[in-house]
Amino acid sequence: MMREGQAHTVYRADYQAPAWWIDTVDLTFDLDPAKTRVLNKMRVRRNPDVPAQPLHLNGDELNLARVMVNGAASSFKMDGSDLVLENLPEGSDPVDLEIFTTCMPEKNTKLMGLYTSSGSFFTQCEAEGFRRITYFLDRPDVMAMYTVTLRANKAQFPVLLSNGNLVEQGDLQGPGNEGRHFAKWVDPHKKPCYLFALVAGNLVAREQKIKSRAGNEHLLQVFVRPGDLEKTEHAMNSLMASIAWDEARFGLSLDLDRFMIVATGDFNMGAMENKGLNIFNTKYVLASQATATDADYANIESVVGHEYFHNWTGDRVTCRDWFQLSLKEGLTVFRDQEFSMDMAGSASARAVKRIDDVRVLRTVQFPEDAGPMAHPVRPDSYLEINNFYTVTIYEKGSEVVRMQSTLVGREGFAKGMKLYFERHDGQAVTCDDFAQAIADANPDSPLAQHLPQFKRWYSQSGTPRVAAQGVYDAEAQTYTLTLTQSCPATPGQPGKEPFVIPVTLGLLADDGRSLPLTIRPSQALSSIAHSATNHTVVLTEASHTIVFDGVEQAPAPSLLRNFSAPVVLQIEESDDALLHLLAHDEDAFNRWEAGQRLGLRFALQAIAARSTAGADAPALQANLLPASFVQAMRDVLRDPQLDAAFKDLAVTLPSEAYITEQLDPVDPQTVHAVREAMRQQLATELAADWAWAYDECSNTGAYVPDAVSAGKRALAGHALLMLCVAARASGDQVWPGKTLQRYKDAGNMTDRYNALSALVVSGSPLADAAIQSFHQLFKNDELVLDKWFALQAGAPDINGSALPAVRALMKQPDFNIKNPNRARSVIFSYCNGNPGGFHRADGAGYAFWADQVIALDAINPQVAARLARSLDRWKKLAEPYRQAAGDAIAKVAAKPKLSNDVREVITRAMAD
Ligand code: TRP
Ligand code: ZN
Repeated sequence: MMREGQAHTVYRADYQAPAWWIDTVDLTFDLDPAKTRVLNKMRVRRNPDVPAQPLHLNGDELNLARVMVNGAASSFKMDGSDLVLENLPEGSDPVDLEIFTTCMPEKNTKLMGLYTSSGSFFTQCEAEGFRRITYFLDRPDVMAMYTVTLRANKAQFPVLLSNGNLVEQGDLQGPGNEGRHFAKWVDPHKKPCYLFALVAGNLVAREQKIKSRAGNEHLLQVFVRPGDLEKTEHAMNSLMASIAWDEARFGLSLDLDRFMIVATGDFNMGAMENKGLNIFNTKYVLASQATATDADYANIESVVGHEYFHNWTGDRVTCRDWFQLSLKEGLTVFRDQEFSMDMAGSASARAVKRIDDVRVLRTVQFPEDAGPMAHPVRPDSYLEINNFYTVTIYEKGSEVVRMQSTLVGREGFAKGMKLYFERHDGQAVTCDDFAQAIADANPDSPLAQHLPQFKRWYSQSGTPRVAAQGVYDAEAQTYTLTLTQSCPATPGQPGKEPFVIPVTLGLLADDGRSLPLTIRPSQALSSIAHSATNHTVVLTEASHTIVFDGVEQAPAPSLLRNFSAPVVLQIEESDDALLHLLAHDEDAFNRWEAGQRLGLRFALQAIAARSTAGADAPALQANLLPASFVQAMRDVLRDPQLDAAFKDLAVTLPSEAYITEQLDPVDPQTVHAVREAMRQQLATELAADWAWAYDECSNTGAYVPDAVSAGKRALAGHALLMLCVAARASGDQVWPGKTLQRYKDAGNMTDRYNALSALVVSGSPLADAAIQSFHQLFKNDELVLDKWFALQAGAPDINGSALPAVRALMKQPDFNIKNPNRARSVIFSYCNGNPGGFHRADGAGYAFWADQVIALDAINPQVAARLARSLDRWKKLAEPYRQAAGDAIAKVAAKPKLSNDVREVITRAMAD
């Protein structure tokens, strides 16, 4: 069943304040999986600032039983699936409404609104799910006080939860109520309806009492299915750390007596920040050393932090409309990234986190910003808001907040946050309001100086380019750096105005020392000195010339340190200059980046050589990486000063996705073959070094998921993979044998999974037995089974084996397309995570994609639309891939009954 009525585009410019306010809501639920009855009593009043209008309430897939106005039955009208009340009393008096509806939670496969999962009830209301529970003004600027009564069978649903404080509970009396109980909850804070939540079921909780800095007591609870309780310790620890961090860094305290997290195995995204009752995908709650990897532990910490931080940035101050989504998401991602960095501790561990975040930005957000779905951080229009929970809103939005923080400094940013809450607590506001508060709290900062121009980061889409050119004058002892910015056109935005771009930089001497910086003062350019050798210059013009005085020797410039702005840096550097930065830069991010630039350079050279040579292309086994680069990678591996986590990232070649982004047109099989050959070379030529690194790092003692030991496990796993890759070429079976033994002996999931993955990814003949054994061991653990499915769906394609393997996985008894985690673990892992297997010359991968988009759309449009994005960049593909991808897209487009979600993605992909 699709939403009724015509799809229509919503424009930011059309925003109007609501004609009615809702002051209080009193909801009573009679919970039954097949048919739940909802009584909605609300007190509404006309907004005196807006001309009188009928009350237009949103609804979706509801069955309406009756409407009462001030205690009397009332007439009403339907407008599509919305309910319209035209004859409400005039004047400013409040009006009492009673609306009685039913819905079918068990049939709700979209997982939006009220649904069931393993026999329990859950809700998901953001963005527009509340209208699937009752008729309402389903928009974030309507904020109300909620009272919620839940009634259900006590044996089946012993736990009844909603937002806020539990004020009453007990058994229900009277005929028809045998075995039933109730709970009544009152939320002390007003909120938009997208933050409403209820949970009912057979759940158990880990509980923890804490005292805040202010001296208040709070009860923390993490609810899970019976049997999962021992896997909640890390989530609880992460929650306590988040609460302490927000108090220490921003002076923001928990504003509720009770804070609850509930986990469900059926969830469209990661988690949801409902006030006082966060609902999570089990993937971001459950962890034990036997079942979760270090990456899982880190993700749990960051998602628990993210949702907790929304309690202020999102819940206390919310969005005026959905175009302002990044107001809460970009800011909250920035906060969770900073939290993870502060938790990681050392400068090196902070850099590792920064590198991880930048990798996501560049491999996922940059392509989005260059493709048919490109949109500004604050979009101007949408067809389906669910499609705008994107890496641009979240990750680029976080970078836009990070640049504001850079421009006002860490202390200045904390002051800005304080002003933001003083001004806007309890309000629904805009991105403009946020930036204004940060600037107003720092009137002398470059942000305040350039605020209107800075806000172009919110309105212009596309990834800016910064081209750099340096000239050294030995006689004058000056180094002159010219930085020129530009931004490619994006759909609907042919021309761009210059951005405000903070470029953090330094200059390196021949011996690797950082040179002291003396920037010649200029009216046009502000700069911030962090230390004698590390400054940020603030670009505002299309081009700037920066003169450094007193430079004793021709320097190697280190630009865009710590990735100070979400841009592409274009600079011509010799291999030697990059090797120099890799070895010596004081900025750890740029050390890593120098290695990436080199790796990318060699990949692009090999790809170019292959396409010009055509059929005569030399065999790829030839050495694609020069000896100097291989030696530099060896030096990194053996460097006693570097942390293992940093080494692991520095010796990882740029991903296929990142290489692909640099090319147009792109032959995905060439990219795949070239990267494979480069990896093979690194594996073989550094075999002794990998073995050494493995011995150094393979024993981390009793399992603790801290940054240092996790880094060692990551490097040991990487080394095993490379040793198995080397064995593939040499035929030597010693390392695959050792890897299988490691798989069997492992004392934690990280080591076990890394060993299994090394066998599978290197195509070892020992992989099959290990895969069987893994299933045997973990067949009752959903989250581990997801890993098992994902690993196989991403396995190397040997003579076209990947697609048939994926089809076989989908016939497994424990495959279930209705469960988003499981669908993602198989279908997404193949379409997004296995480029070598997906981009088949016969187009069968794309045809499979089309079938799955269509199948998923009938079940869960949100998940289907995410999958639909896999072919966003199809117009860049070389033939025969482009034609085949176009056919697959046309096949989806030809379906008459598509959801708005999928329709919007497909229409944009074809139009671009
Ligand atoms: N607001 C949530 C977050 O970022 C994510 C979210 C938005 C979501 N829409 C959703 C989660 C729909 C599940 C389903 O934390
Ligand atoms: Zn969020």
